[in-house]
Amino acid sequence: MDVSGASVDDETFYSNAVQYWSEIPPTIDGMLGGFGHISQTDIRDSKLLLKQLFNSKEPPGREYALDCGAGIGRITKHLLCDFFDNVDLVEQNPKFLSQAEQYLGVKLQEKIRNYYSVGLQSFKPETGKYDVIWCQWVLGHLTDLDLVTFLESCQSGLKLNGVIIIKENISSSDEIDKDERDSSVTRPLSLYREIFTKAGLDCYRQVKQRNFPKGLYTVYMFILRPQKLVPE
Ligand SMILES: C[S@@+](CC[C@H](N)C(=O)[O-])C[C@H]1O[C@@H](n2cnc3c(N)ncnc32)[C@H](O)[C@@H]1O
Repeated sequence: MDVSGASVDDETFYSNAVQYWSEIPPTIDGMLGGFGHISQTDIRDSKLLLKQLFNSKEPPGREYALDCGAGIGRITKHLLCDFFDNVDLVEQNPKFLSQAEQYLGVKLQEKIRNYYSVGLQSFKPETGKYDVIWCQWVLGHLTDLDLVTFLESCQSGLKLNGVIIIKENISSSDEIDKDERDSSVTRPLSLYREIFTKAGLDCYRQVKQRNFPKGLYTVYMFILRPQKLVPE
């Protein structure tokens, strides 16, 4: 352990991921591991989820969203900018963030307030800033411990009625699948649910992505809210 409490293994886990992503081209195919063609299907179900959320009781506001592990801004461009007035992006690879400026184009740039170039394990959202914090295909790059801490800090980053939305691959067994190539893990559903509870979050909805090609991991979307305190 060093003074920050990170073990040497954790440091290697994070630095290997930085190394992996530094060699990936800043394209949609790069973001999706060669599966760029599934982007539209992915965005379609995400849009439906947000529409349903905005039609629910006590929906979040539509002022400010945060895109976590934003890559070149695929989700910001095709999803978040359609629903929110302001968007921040957080992404550890600076090359992807500078490509995001181009990829989003002049019109959508007007909605982008901040590009944070930092790993999620070191990022703390400002208190009470966001209506929706969107995390997709990035949380497998955090250790379980850092994921709990990150989700706790996301909670403090939410406005009234704000939510955290997670969209991630889920392993088919009860085991974690490790990918040494990109230095990530794919977690089982049970572990995600355990992590949400540890972070003080309630899972308000859990929805399976439809129509992805066979052979890919099952993908779930989770809408998370701070646990309501029950008076004793
Ligand atoms: C599979 S891509 C997904 C990008 C984007 N979420 C999307 O769906 O288009 C994973 C992204 O997470 C970023 N990433 C990896 N580890 C990270 C970390 N610890 N903190 C922040 N971003 C990270 C990578 O640089 C890459 O841009």
